[in-house]
Amino acid sequence: MSTVIKGGTIVTADLTYKADVKIEGGKIVEIGPNLSGDEVLDAAGCYVMPGGIDPHVHLEMPFMGTYSADDFESGTRAGLAGGTTMVVDFCLPDPGQSLLDALKRWDNKSTRANCDYSFHMSVTWWGEQVFNEMKTVVEEHGINTFKHFMAYKGALMVNDDEMFASFQRCAALGALPLVHAENGDVVAAMQQKLMDEGNNGPEGHAYSRPPSVEGEATNRAIIIADMAGAPLYVVHTSCEQAHEAIRRARQNGMRVYGEPLIQHLTLDESEYFNKDWDHAARRVMSPPFRNKQHQDSLWAGLAAGSLQVVATDHCAFTTDQKRFGVGDFRKIPNGTGGLEDRMPMLWTYGVNTGRLTMNEFVAVTSTNIAKILNVYPRKGAILVGADADIVVWDPKRSKTISAKNQQSSIEYNVFEGKEVTGLPRYTLTRGVVAIEEGTVKTREGHGQFVKREPFAAVNKALSTWKEITAPRKVERSGIPASGV
Ligand code: URP
Ligand code: ZN
Ligand code: ZN
Ligand code: ZN
Repeated sequence: MSTVIKGGTIVTADLTYKADVKIEGGKIVEIGPNLSGDEVLDAAGCYVMPGGIDPHVHLEMPFMGTYSADDFESGTRAGLAGGTTMVVDFCLPDPGQSLLDALKRWDNKSTRANCDYSFHMSVTWWGEQVFNEMKTVVEEHGINTFKHFMAYKGALMVNDDEMFASFQRCAALGALPLVHAENGDVVAAMQQKLMDEGNNGPEGHAYSRPPSVEGEATNRAIIIADMAGAPLYVVHTSCEQAHEAIRRARQNGMRVYGEPLIQHLTLDESEYFNKDWDHAARRVMSPPFRNKQHQDSLWAGLAAGSLQVVATDHCAFTTDQKRFGVGDFRKIPNGTGGLEDRMPMLWTYGVNTGRLTMNEFVAVTSTNIAKILNVYPRKGAILVGADADIVVWDPKRSKTISAKNQQSSIEYNVFEGKEVTGLPRYTLTRGVVAIEEGTVKTREGHGQFVKREPFAAVNKALSTWKEITAPRKVERSGIPASGV
């Protein structure tokens, strides 16, 4: 059984050309003119692009006394509806818990996924057990990324000495450390001050996490990674201060990546001043939405290449869950949805406005992260031999985003009312049509875990350079006698 995507224009991170794509056994087997197959998908007027990869999602995540509302089934269904064909979730050991025990829980939850997925491992505490298990996680479980929270004091947060130890371990294992960069000590102190002053509404969340706490932590993580000889990936980069630190590091030759979210690119801080408590609380996430100057900085970074990836941090909570924080903004579960909307929103506000080229769109939604995670060209490419994770993108198809017809299981959408132009005509996951003209045909359990090998090109380059420039004893002859 073969499928041919016919009559479209292939758009990859570096090329745009007319060709058909033939698929067999879930893989791309041929690219060229006038191909035929058992099933034909009409791509006339469409762009044929690598399916999106969202490297930052939290599905059924235990967090702040509850679980995020979308699980691997609804979350990946939402992703596919918007053209995303792979997600990477964060495995989260409780402090003191074995990394391998936590992985078992994530393996169980993810069996319902509709598209392929992978995990990052989180380092939420430090000790010999974590040090040892990190090797097993990399070598036996195919996970080459480790997440560190510099915020959420008293829960997930790790300190600088723990981060330095873990980053060094990552370097030795050929893994990539990730950071949630906010100064958790300063945030906690500012939260307490706001509460003491009676400032307990959702706007207090934004006030307690200004851009400087993110900029400081980003810079600190970059320096620690450099000392450890590790590359670094900064998740949810939301402001100029953090972007500046990343930009400066890259100009100095450091291997540092930044990941803005579609929310931070298109929504701003005025949402927190809405008179409706629910409206504001539904948008509480960390880091919070910023002002227009920060948004401009992020867009510029994507165009200039100083920021590489657009993600969602999809972590959806219902209004009832958000209301845990009535009277104390510190208890509002942090997180917003976005999986279904990332690609249409980025196309509409990026490509349709001229801020991004189509090729840059593919780079920041798929190809760059495939390379960073070391799954390219199996993922993130339209090439013979690649997985047929493909979106047939109709640049004329439009809709108004509304919770009424979304896939996510929550009852609101932070992008409610936004008009988007540019939507999937078809989304294919390993050759299987999951979305067809807005009709959902996903198959629960179709998704497979994607193993990722360590020692991506950057790790190899860094470890080679570290070895060449390592401290070496100077051998001397004729050492003078001690002066004593
Ligand atoms: O507010 C957020 N971002 N919630 C999800 C957890 C995290 O920090 O990424
Ligand atoms: Zn496993
Ligand atoms: Zn985070
Ligand atoms: Zn997150």
